Amino acid sequence: MCGIVGYVGQRPAQEILLAGLEKLEYRGYDSAGVSVLTGGEIASVRAVGNLSKLREAVEQGSIGSDPHETGPPVAVAVAEEPATSGIGHTRWATHGRVTESNAHPHFDTNDRVHVVVNGIVENYLSLKQRMTDMGADYTSETDAEVIAHLISHHMASAGSLTEAVCAAYNELEGHYAFVAMSADEPGMLVGARKECPLIVGRGDGEQFLGSAVPAFLAHTRDVQFIENGEVVVLRPGGVQFLRPDGTPLEREITHVDWDEATAEKGGYETFMLKEIHEQADAVAETIVDRTARGTGIDLAEAALDESLLQNIDRILILAAGTSFHAGLIGRYAIEEWARIPVEMDIASEWRYRNPIVSERELVIGITQSGETADTLAAMRLAQERGAKVLACTNVVGSQATRDADGVLYTRAGLEVSVAATKTFVCQVAAMYLLALRLAELRGTMEPARITELVSEIQHLPNRITELIDRLDAPVKAAAERHADSNFYLYLGRHVGRAVALEGALKLKEISYIATDAYAGGEMKHGPIALLDESTPVVCVATDMPILDKMISNIQEVRARGAHVIAIATEGDDRLEPVAEEVIYVPRTDWMLQALLAVIPLQLFAYHVARKRGLNVDQPRNLAKTVTVE
Ligand code: F6R
Repeated sequence: MCGIVGYVGQRPAQEILLAGLEKLEYRGYDSAGVSVLTGGEIASVRAVGNLSKLREAVEQGSIGSDPHETGPPVAVAVAEEPATSGIGHTRWATHGRVTESNAHPHFDTNDRVHVVVNGIVENYLSLKQRMTDMGADYTSETDAEVIAHLISHHMASAGSLTEAVCAAYNELEGHYAFVAMSADEPGMLVGARKECPLIVGRGDGEQFLGSAVPAFLAHTRDVQFIENGEVVVLRPGGVQFLRPDGTPLEREITHVDWDEATAEKGGYETFMLKEIHEQADAVAETIVDRTARGTGIDLAEAALDESLLQNIDRILILAAGTSFHAGLIGRYAIEEWARIPVEMDIASEWRYRNPIVSERELVIGITQSGETADTLAAMRLAQERGAKVLACTNVVGSQATRDADGVLYTRAGLEVSVAATKTFVCQVAAMYLLALRLAELRGTMEPARITELVSEIQHLPNRITELIDRLDAPVKAAAERHADSNFYLYLGRHVGRAVALEGALKLKEISYIATDAYAGGEMKHGPIALLDESTPVVCVATDMPILDKMISNIQEVRARGAHVIAIATEGDDRLEPVAEEVIYVPRTDWMLQALLAVIPLQLFAYHVARKRGLNVDQPRNLAKTVTVE
């Protein structure tokens, strides 16, 4: 999740921008940069690494070096008048490696327009080709750079930065927020938003922009929220809101009395709740360009030899914890769609059993951090024994990405809460994409069926938003009713079992309540002895081919008098008669339903733990990254 800051006013901009970026550090980043407008020219500096590296580069006077030159930056005379407007960015790499030239701000060929961007431009390849044909000179591997060239191109005909941003906005597809400045229109910033966050801070004779309120909280608490599909024009004296067709809009000013910590959490009471709410955006980032064709899946970026994928005999998925549960869903999807046998194991078990693996196998290591010691060791062992290894991870440059033969990124942004939520749904989404790509390559599905599933995958972000908006309050009420229980059983079958395992793990790790998760059909072989009238049993019973069997298992639970909380698919009336409580998730393809079904279980765990007054972001005895074996 990149961070954006912008300032236009009377005060020196550089320090305001750097301090604003420091307040966005919690979002995670791997490189950063600022551009300021001084003496009719834009001076810019970028650096790989943390913000102290950017500060060093700024202090060395490299700001203003010619960005088209290669080699060490050239110090230039510091402008007599300090710059009073500028933009800054922290980058979390998605397209393109972690390098200085891929860091933002990006600029046009004449270095007159600079932009900072958060998100993904889905149609950047065609736009890039068009701009290149018109003479644009690209200096980065990013999708974001195209926005600078496109605005510059439109400025030539539109005449103003505002009109050029509107024209560019109308051509861009994807999921982004950006801010542009032009050396030809000093004292002005123009921002635009489609899905990704961007907020205005109102000052007296100065205005601010940020991806989140902490970017400018030290200067103002008066904010204006930019809605999707809106453009804003900031000048020291005021802010204009527009639709991209130029229609002016009114926007009220809201006073936020958040302290800094609340602001970092975007107004949510915890990082975990914020991250649960970020899941729609995170999944959209993970799938957007990879499903852009509409008829299939593009995973070229994973850099795996696709002829290998066509010929493998078996897949082995290795992971730990929540990532293991994502792998389990991946296993079902790959077997169902691509008809390749998939084995799964816990990395810390597999590596110590003198495993058998061959060159005709693909090993997938799933690890959101990319640093889990057991998963890394298992991946290395698989490589030593001849297998090709694909890492599925959230962290660019992590050890897993350096060790693996190919990398499939989840693009969830930084996850602060120890309990994995948004990284989990992105891992599941990545597994769906991989399974469909394998099906395409191996011809195991009708193209029309693949197109149908791609469309369902594209709808997942909206369904997640709808689900969270509708379910947060009722799930909270259910969680509060059951918060005193000291044991929960979770049941599910097929992909529902993976969801049950994840729901049970989430509850135990943040609420410290004992949970067990079982395959529905296995319950009668032991765990049924645990059931009595006081036991809440969470049953994942969403649409799937063996739902009837799951309903029979629920009947067995009911016969012992336990209390059934069922997760079901909207429109399915078979659960009401057999469950005390039913929580409905939106209908989609039954395999994809697993990704949606886990969300009420995350919310349930969250609200139980909060009702018990626990610190969900940092549960006892747990660390976000487990680097010990
Ligand atoms: C649970 C959780 C852990 C991790 C596990 C693996 O919420 O976060 O179970 O899933 O420690 O971590 P990664 O995915 O970083 O390898």
